[in-house]
Amino acid sequence: MSESHDNKPNKPEASATGFAKGLTNYGDREFSVYLRRTFASSMGYSREMLDRPIVGIAHSASGFNNCHRHFPEMIEAVKRGVLAAGGLPIEFPTISLGETFLTPTSLKFRNLMSMDVEEMTRAQPMDAVVLLGGCDKTVPAQLMGAASADIPAVQLVAGPMSTSRHRGERLGACTDCRRFWARFRAAQIDADEIDAVERRLASTAGTCAVMGTASTMAIIAETLGMMPANSAACPAVDADRLRIAEETGRVAFGLIANPIRPGEIITHQSVENALRVLLAIGGSTNAVIHLTAIAGRLGIKVDLRRLNELSETTPVLVDLKPTGAHYMEDLYVAGGVPAILRELKSLLHLDCRTVTGETLGERLDAVSWVDREVVRPAAQPVRETGGLVALFGNLAPRGAILKRSAAEPALFEKEGRAVVFGSLEDLANRIDSDALDVTADDFLVLQNAGPASEAAMPEAGYLPIPRKLARAGVKDMVRLSDARMSGTAYGTIVLHITPDAASGGPLALVKNGDRIRLSVSQRALELLVPEEELERRRQAQPPRAQWRHKRGYASLYEREILQADEGCDFRFLT
Ligand code: FES
Repeated sequence: MSESHDNKPNKPEASATGFAKGLTNYGDREFSVYLRRTFASSMGYSREMLDRPIVGIAHSASGFNNCHRHFPEMIEAVKRGVLAAGGLPIEFPTISLGETFLTPTSLKFRNLMSMDVEEMTRAQPMDAVVLLGGCDKTVPAQLMGAASADIPAVQLVAGPMSTSRHRGERLGACTDCRRFWARFRAAQIDADEIDAVERRLASTAGTCAVMGTASTMAIIAETLGMMPANSAACPAVDADRLRIAEETGRVAFGLIANPIRPGEIITHQSVENALRVLLAIGGSTNAVIHLTAIAGRLGIKVDLRRLNELSETTPVLVDLKPTGAHYMEDLYVAGGVPAILRELKSLLHLDCRTVTGETLGERLDAVSWVDREVVRPAAQPVRETGGLVALFGNLAPRGAILKRSAAEPALFEKEGRAVVFGSLEDLANRIDSDALDVTADDFLVLQNAGPASEAAMPEAGYLPIPRKLARAGVKDMVRLSDARMSGTAYGTIVLHITPDAASGGPLALVKNGDRIRLSVSQRALELLVPEEELERRRQAQPPRAQWRHKRGYASLYEREILQADEGCDFRFLT
C-alpha cells in the first residue's frame, strides 16, 4: 500500500475516500481497512485501482423493466468515463420499477426504491454516485434518495424509445397505445389489428416515446441541474446516449474534487425553474407529485397556488404527444432541453448551480440551431399559458390537478350530474353496462383510488368513456378522481383530488345525481350539495379500518403515506 495515498489505514475516516470510506465496524479500524481491501482484491482489482476514489453506479436494470434493457451497455460507457478521469467505477443494483409490471401500481414502491438508493449510497463506500434510471418512478426515487443521502450525485436517464410504424403510420408508446385502444373499444378496428399494433408500439429499449412521466422527469432532472446539459431527450438507442453516459461518469468523478451536493443544486429557485419547464412542456401531471416529493426531502414546499401563478405566465412551447404531434426523438434533434430553457430565459433563475459546475444560464449560451416546428419561440407559443392548473373548492380543499393542455376547452366551464364509482372494481364492473345511467354531459366520478386507498393511487384517472357513449362518438367527458393519470393520456380529467376519499376527504361523500361545478377560469371544483347534507353524510360514513395490514411494506405504506400535495412521500422520510 502506498504511504502517500489517502487510503492508508491510519488516515482519519472522516477524510477517507474510496474503499477506506464508511468502514464495516469490527472495533479495530485498521483491521477493517485491511479486511475490506482483502475482499476487494478478490474481485481482481490492482493496487492502483484499490487506491482510487470510487464512483458508484446505482442502476435499476431488471428483467422486469423493458425500458432499461440497454443498461448493461450504458453502464460500460459510464465506467469508461470514470476510469478515464481517474476513478474506480463500481456498479450496484437497486430496486427497479417497471411501470407495467407492478401491482397494484409502481407509485406504491417509489418510496421503497428511494430508501434503497439513499441507504445503499450512504452505507457503501463511494465518493460520488451516478444514478441510472428512466422508467417513470425510478428517476424520482433516485433523486429523492440522493437528496436525502446528500452525497455528490449525477442523474443519467435511459432516454426515450424510438418510434415505429404500423401500416405507414408513426407509432410510439404510449399515447398511441391509448388511441388505438379507444378505437378498438369503439369497434373502429378489429382484434387482428389491435394484436398487430400491440407488437409495434414499443419496439426499442428506452422510456415511453412521448411527453409522458419518464420524459417529463428526465427534463425536470436536467432543468434542476442534476444532469449534464442536453442529456434528457437523446434516444436510448442513439450513439450520443453512450457518449452522454461516458460524460456522466466524468462529471461524477469531477464532483469528488469539487463537491456540489444535491442540496446545493435542488433549491427553491431550481425547483421553481422545474415547475416553469413542466408547464412549458405540457408535462405529466405525475411530475407535480414527484417534484413535490424530491423538493420535500430538502424542506422545500411546492405550493399548488404558486403553480397556478406560474401557469399564467408560462407559455407552452413544445408540441409533443400526447397534446401535440411530435415525439421525444424529435425534441432531441430539434435542440433538446437547452432550446426550451433558452426560450424561457427571462422567466428562469439563471444563477442556479448544476452538476457540471456551470450555472443554468451558462448552459444556454451553447444552443445553436432549433427546429421551430417542435420547440416554438416564446413569441409564438403553442399556448399562451401553462399546461397544468390546480383547482380548489369544497370537493378539493387541498387541491386537484387538471392538465388543461390535454383537455377539451368546451368542457372547462361546466356543471354536471355525478355518476359515481365507489372503487376500481365498481368501475370495471359497470362502466360498459348498457344499463348504466349516463350521458355525455355527466361527470364520471371515481372514489377510493387515492394514495391512502388499497389501490395506492394508480393511473386510473383516465376513466374510459362508457362503451355505449364511445360507440355513439363521444370522445371526452369530465372525469374526476383522487387517482393519477399516465403522462401519455389526455382528456378533461381532474386528478389528485386531495384529501383523497380513503382518508375521509369530501370526494368520499359524493353520491350519484349530485351536481358538481368545474370552472377552469376560476380554478374551482365545487360539490353543489349543502354543507348540512355533507355533514350528515360525513357522520354516516363507516369508520376507517385501522389497520388493514399487519406486517411488511404494505403496513409501512399504510401508516406513513402522505397525500398528493405532500408528494405521496412517507411521513418519516420527509
Ligand atoms: Fe417505462 Fe413508459 S413503461 S417509461
